[in-house]
Amino acid sequence: MRITPHIVIALLLCGIIMSATIASLAVQYARTPLPAGRVDPMRLNNSEFRQLGLIATGNQQYILRMIAKEWFFDVGQRRGGPATISIPVGSRITIVVTSMDVIHSLQVATHPVLLIRPGFIAQQTIAFDTTGTFPFICTYYCGPQHDAMRGSIIVTP
Ligand code: CUA
Repeated sequence: MRITPHIVIALLLCGIIMSATIASLAVQYARTPLPAGRVDPMRLNNSEFRQLGLIATGNQQYILRMIAKEWFFDVGQRRGGPATISIPVGSRITIVVTSMDVIHSLQVATHPVLLIRPGFIAQQTIAFDTTGTFPFICTYYCGPQHDAMRGSIIVTP
């Protein structure tokens, strides 16, 4: 087969497209935190997700364990209102969250988005060094009441 300029250009274009694809995948992968563990979404009652909400683990250190579900963040409160968590300023919270149905996500204020997939535990530690109300939302479209998936962390003096 004769190598014509057309073939050379086509090969070059293929190379460029493949490199760009690989590079964008690498960037996405690097931005997505690795899951902190796995959990059976059908058996959350037999897992650490039996106990939800704020759990003190030390001096101003907490775990905030949540289950994302259609369509709210379950922090162990009664369903009906958005999740509300209160902590004193200077606290450090490790959010531990999974989904019991579809893919959701969690973004606290302007912190990086956590992808929440059934079967996986997502985790993120945030220090709250200023007082105020820090909203959190699901940023991943998960169904008709996706917009209802919200809550707030209230940091008190
Ligand atoms: Cu859950 Cu969007």
